[in-house]
Amino acid sequence: MAKKKPVEQSAAFLKTIRDWQKLEDETIRHADTLMKKTRNRLVKMTMEMIKHDSQKHKAMQQMLIDSLTTEPFILAPEELGAISEGLNKHLAAEAKSLELADEALNNCELFVTRYILSYLIADEQKHHSLLGKLNELKRATVFVT
Ligand SMILES: [Fe+2]
Ligand SMILES: [Fe+2]
Repeated sequence: MAKKKPVEQSAAFLKTIRDWQKLEDETIRHADTLMKKTRNRLVKMTMEMIKHDSQKHKAMQQMLIDSLTTEPFILAPEELGAISEGLNKHLAAEAKSLELADEALNNCELFVTRYILSYLIADEQKHHSLLGKLNELKRATVFVT
C-alpha cells in the first residue's frame, strides 16, 4: 500500500504558505513606505527590523515550499551528533546572551530601552530554543523529514 502523503503536501496547505508569503511582500512595502514617511529614528529602526524579518520569512517559506514540492529536508541524528560540540557551545553562548539581556531589561527604566530590549530578548529566546530543539533531536532515533 502506498504511504499516505502528509497534509503538508496538500494543495490547501501549500496555498496557505504561498498566500502568507505574498503578504510578506505587502509588509515589506508598508515598512518601506513608513520609513520614507518618517524622520524618527526609532520608527525607522522598527521598520528596518520588520523589513529584514519579512525578507527572512519569505526565504524560509520558500525553503519550506521547496522542501515539500522538490527536495525534502532530511535530518538524521548522526548528522547532529557530528556537530554536537559546536551546538553545545553555541547553545551556551545564546544562554549567556539571554542572561545579559534579561539583566539589562530588569535594570532599565526608559520606554525606548525596554522596547528595544524586549525585541532582542524575543530573538535570543528564539535562537536558544531553535538550538535546543536541534539538540534534542540528537537523541532521536528516527529520521526527521
Ligand atoms: Fe512575516
Ligand atoms: Fe542570539
